[in-house]
Amino acid sequence: DWKMNFFAEKQIEELREKIGDGKVLLALSGGVDSSVVAGLLSKAIGKQLTCVFVDHGLLRKNEAEEVAAVFGPEGPFDLNFICVDAKQRYYDKLAGVTEPEQKRKIIGEEFIHVFEEEAKKIGKVDFLAQGTIYPDVIESGLGKSAVIKSHHNVGGLPDYVDFKEIVEPLRSLFKDEVRQLGREIGLPDYIVDRQPFPGPGLGIRIIGEVNAEKVKIVQDADAIYREEIANAGLAGSISQYYAALTNMRSVGVMGDFRTYDYAVALRAVQTSDFMTATAVEIPWNVLQKVMTRIVNEVDHVNRVFYDLTSKPPGTIELE
Ligand code: XMP
Repeated sequence: DWKMNFFAEKQIEELREKIGDGKVLLALSGGVDSSVVAGLLSKAIGKQLTCVFVDHGLLRKNEAEEVAAVFGPEGPFDLNFICVDAKQRYYDKLAGVTEPEQKRKIIGEEFIHVFEEEAKKIGKVDFLAQGTIYPDVIESGLGKSAVIKSHHNVGGLPDYVDFKEIVEPLRSLFKDEVRQLGREIGLPDYIVDRQPFPGPGLGIRIIGEVNAEKVKIVQDADAIYREEIANAGLAGSISQYYAALTNMRSVGVMGDFRTYDYAVALRAVQTSDFMTATAVEIPWNVLQKVMTRIVNEVDHVNRVFYDLTSKPPGTIELE
């Protein structure tokens, strides 16, 4: 696409001019926006950019590896990539916590702590880069979007990191333009086509207390669901879909034995603005296949539900 190609060239040139020989820090979540910012900056200033990626142990299966494959030392981009393994830290903090807003708060605050520690190690930076896009600009500071962005778009960071200026190269772009730009600068499809993933991650897709065992269950179930949705050719037409772990256990039977295990909930919604949504009519045979695979392949799951609820009254996430 020549327009995006032009935009990319021009942005890279402008970033180079603005940044000079300065140092830039970016909190990379692996989502589309921060990944495109990382790619652009890498092309503009290479190793003057440091990206900090925090693995909070609430990512989807293989997600940390996928991000590292693109932005790590083996990947195609020239930059400093710091991956912080903070899994245990988060699990310790989340132990025993069941209230959804409390969970969100802990996850968000811990992110700031981890990021701050890494920023201190790097020392003084000149610029803080952010993946703010046009819809964030127009909705800024109001209602839900402020809350939504409080984690990974790190609205609070300026207090914690010593820097001169913010760089937001995507400020004028809509989401589909950001995706085009991502393709233009050579990001792989699995990053560019990513569906929205909440900052608190699987933390709000595990109802009740979060622990490593539950994370593993939901990661494995979700990976199966995603694989089968892709096999059925449905991935591109669903706004957001995922497997969640309900906090319910029930009786089942496996061979000659009675089981007492968890129920997984599958969700898939169609939405244009994420304010309202309807459940997607996934073909029955696809759901059957996902159910069979999850109960057979994932330990401690003996039941699978499909969530039919619209938003409102339901939300897209379960917590
Ligand atoms: P809900 O569940 O409110 O979700 O219908 C609407 C959209 O927002 C995402 N979401 C979040 N994103 N931090 C985020 O970064 C959050 O705490 C959060 N909660 C919900 C959700 O995935 C959906 O796309």
